[in-house]
Parts: sequence; structure tokens; C-alpha cells
Amino acid sequence: MNKVFIIGGNGQVGYCLKQQTEVLNMPAFVTTRDMLDVTDYEQLKKLVATEKPSVLINASAYTNVEQAEDDYEKAYEVNCVAVGNMAKVAHELHIPLIHISTDYVFDGTCDRIYTEDKPTNPINAYGKSKLLGENAVIENHDQYVILRTSWVFGQHGKNFVKTMMRLFGSKDSLKVVDDQIGGPTFAGDIAKAILDIVDYLHKNPEKQPWGIYNFSGFPNVTWCTFTKNIYAVALEKKLVDKYIKIEPVATEFYPTKAKRPKNSQLSMKKIKDVFDIDPSDWSRELKYNLEKYCEQE
Ligand SMILES: NC(=O)c1ccc[n+]([C@@H]2O[C@H](COP(=O)([O-])OP(=O)(O)OC[C@H]3O[C@@H](n4cnc5c(N)ncnc54)[C@H](OP(=O)(O)O)[C@@H]3O)[C@@H](O)[C@H]2O)c1
Repeated sequence: MNKVFIIGGNGQVGYCLKQQTEVLNMPAFVTTRDMLDVTDYEQLKKLVATEKPSVLINASAYTNVEQAEDDYEKAYEVNCVAVGNMAKVAHELHIPLIHISTDYVFDGTCDRIYTEDKPTNPINAYGKSKLLGENAVIENHDQYVILRTSWVFGQHGKNFVKTMMRLFGSKDSLKVVDDQIGGPTFAGDIAKAILDIVDYLHKNPEKQPWGIYNFSGFPNVTWCTFTKNIYAVALEKKLVDKYIKIEPVATEFYPTKAKRPKNSQLSMKKIKDVFDIDPSDWSRELKYNLEKYCEQE
């Protein structure tokens, strides 16, 4: 079986990729920051050349959206320069690169669902660095799949679901933003989608499915509705035993340095048509595994 080279093995998605390759018995070389700092081009080239993978997968990124406003240089280095270097390495070795991007490449003003070809216009520093990263892939390689995803949560790492579970323990009421809409996406489903694409590439070497694809959760909800869903499951599973008032508020109620798109809804038609991949079923993950989001790491 062909070997995958996974970068960013300690992130939410990277960790799930590592777990799933183990379950599938798929040969994988997984790097974490201590083995490979992605900004070290020489080290990247050396490791990939030594391992000779058949696919390069990048799950690493500078993901602190607020911090990126003050630290754009670092965000740009990790999300654009390093990604361009990964594309160059993959190009030299004639292997595909699978890279993850974000709904934050859009400004959120579209009144409908975002298809992949809608004009990009990031409204924060993180989104700008990620869009430049997409461009760096496209400029340096011809065999790539870029997956744009949104609102990622997983059992490993920091995320909205864990924050809410913690707040349910300490608060009697919560005010949650209700004018941003998007698809919460389970990190395990992103990992599965990526490994399904790897499988497709191996089984269909003559196909050229290169390009940008959306992959996110369905149904789309606001942060407030998502919170109400988490709370309902938490009550059902007896992870919370008190009434908590969950109130909708406008984005302006929580001023932040980084602006967020109001509409993050991504169309899943293209990925379904080409790879037969379904949207992430975020409510299933809550239903079966919410207790795992209470464990402290
Ligand atoms: N999180 C979201 O809501 C969201 C939404 C849309 C798109 N995305 C995209 O989805 C992908 C996966 O996100 P995620 O939530 O899994 O991210 P994450 O949990 O923040 O993981 C990112 C990983 O990248 C690693 N990393 C950062 N800088 C590095 C460097 N210089 N060298 C080596 N490793 C480095 C981090 O290492 P350490 O563990 O050592 O810090 C971390 O393990 C990213 O491309 C992200 O932009 C995420």
C-alpha cells in the first residue's frame, strides 16, 4: 500500500488523520512540530525525500485568528510560504498535495451558499494568509486538492464545543452570536474525507480531479443554534443537570480584533459529484461522543 506523509499530526485534523491511518493499517509518516517545523524548507525537503510518500497531506496551519491580526508575519510564513514550499516539494517528487483551507477566504456577504468559484475576499489577517497559501499551492504544483472547511471541532485540541461544555459547568446563562451562519465540521470527518480522496487517487490514477473543494458540516447553523444543540445533547446524556439560558446576540456584542464572515455556508455539491463524499454529520458526533469533549487534556 502507498504511504502518506502527514504534516501537523498534533492538530485537531492531523491527530484524526494519524488515528485513522492506524485503524486502516495505512502506511503513514506523521510529523509534529518537534520533528518538522514547516517553516524549515531544507528539513521539509530532506524528510519528504527520505520517506518517499505517494501523497503529501498538510494539516498544519497558524490557526489563531485573533493573534494573526498582530502577528501577520508569522501567519503568512506558516500559512503561505511554508505551504508554497510543500507544493514545490510535492511537484519535484511528482506526488499530489492535499491541503486544508478555510471559509475565511470569503467575506461572508454572499446571500447564498458559497460554491468554490465564488470570488474570494478575506476580511481578516488569517483569511488573507490562507488565501495566499491556496495561491502558493496553485502556482507551484499541478496535482493538488485544496479542501476548504469551516468551524472545526474534534476530541483532540481546543475548540468551540469544548469551550461550551466548560461554560455549561460554570454559568447559568450564556449570550451567543446568532448572526453568523456556517457548518460545524467534525475533524474526524475531514480526516476521513482526505483519506477517501487518497484512496480515490490511488484507484483512479488516470483521473485529474485537481482543484479546490468545499468540505463542511450540515446542516448549517448559527453559533447560537449550535450551542443549543450541544446543550440539548449534554442534558440528554446527563453531562449537565441544570437549566442554562442561552440567549442570541449580534456579533457586535463581542467586539473582536478579527472580523468574521457572517455567511460561511459552503456548497458540498462538487465534492459529492467528484469524490462521492457527504457532508460532515456534526450532530452524530455530538450524539455519540459529547462526553469526550469534557475531558481535560
Ligand atoms: N479550526 C477551525 O475552526 C478551522 C476552520 C476552517 C479551516 N481550518 C483549517 O483546517 C486545518 C486544520 O485545522 P485544525 O483546527 O486541525 O488546526 P490546529 O488544531 O490548530 O492544528 C494546527 C497544527 O499545526 C501545527 N503547526 C503550526 N505551526 C507549525 C509550524 N511552524 N511547524 C509545524 N507545525 C506547526 C500546530 O502545532 P502545535 O500543536 O505544536 O501548535 C498544530 O498541531 C488548517 O489548515 C486550518 O486553517 C480550521
